[in-house]
Amino acid sequence: MSVWELNGRKALVTGGARGLGQAMAEALAGAGASVMIGDVLDELGTETAQLIAKDGATAAFTHLDVTDEASWEAAIAATVAELGGLDVLVNNAGIEITSLMVDIDPADLRRLLDVNVVGTALGMKHGLRAMRPDGAAGTGGSIINIASVAATIAFPALGGYSGSKSAVDRMTRIAAAEAGKLGYGVRVNCIYPGLVPTAMGMQLANDCARLGLFESPEAAVEAVVGLTPSGRLGEVSDMADAVVFLASDASRFVNGTGLAVDGGMGS
Ligand SMILES: NC(=O)c1ccc[n+]([C@@H]2O[C@H](COP(=O)([O-])OP(=O)(O)OC[C@H]3O[C@@H](n4cnc5c(N)ncnc54)[C@H](O)[C@@H]3O)[C@@H](O)[C@H]2O)c1
Repeated sequence: MSVWELNGRKALVTGGARGLGQAMAEALAGAGASVMIGDVLDELGTETAQLIAKDGATAAFTHLDVTDEASWEAAIAATVAELGGLDVLVNNAGIEITSLMVDIDPADLRRLLDVNVVGTALGMKHGLRAMRPDGAAGTGGSIINIASVAATIAFPALGGYSGSKSAVDRMTRIAAAEAGKLGYGVRVNCIYPGLVPTAMGMQLANDCARLGLFESPEAAVEAVVGLTPSGRLGEVSDMADAVVFLASDASRFVNGTGLAVDGGMGS
């Protein structure tokens, strides 16, 4: 088997009902993995899993609220039971709340941190527990956290979001260090996606215009493209292919790091 293939691997993708997570689930399945989608959007998540299964892959949906510990325990158990193990966990579920620092709303910020930081931390906790030698799956694996270019640059109105993704970046490295030290056989990495025009990406452009930072959502997008050496926005497949790489043995000596998939916008 080529080191780029994922035949026989079992993957759980959080926030996989739509957007980047959907593309990641599709790409993992395309590379040969069985895929479980975990999301709070039950109907859409089920449809996405059915769409992937139509192409002949093994794909299923399980309800998962990443902020809730019991929900994680149930989703990991369902993945191990239905797919027969867990080798790949993509902590992709996230939300974005755009605000100037002078207007930060504590309730909004707490919600953002709950999903992006606590949700990702719980994912690593339960993923590592399941994958380590004494775990329910027990065969090691790869955890991929979805941070953001916002963790590497200063873009206006992204204070809370950037803070949350910087936390994801740092936690990734600690988890990799612990997993290595304690012999879990699990690599932990993250990616920093650039702006992709998903529901979330377009919301950011609209919010930046609403806050008076740019003349229009189009001007906000143009500014991002202008800061990007590759001269375009990201596409969902750009992020999905990077996740397949980090899930595969092609990245076997890549550990505890962040991969910028942003056309060169960040550093
Ligand atoms: N789109 C971008 O430009 C961009 C750039 C950098 C990073 N990201 C990151 O990529 C990830 C996916 O973003 P997207 O653009 O696809 O967003 P999206 O809003 O289109 O999709 C996010 C998915 O996460 C799910 N989700 C939200 N809260 C959840 C929870 N508590 N439990 C389980 N699932 C939950 C949603 O239901 C949805 O299916 C996020 O972590 C985001 O921060 C996106």
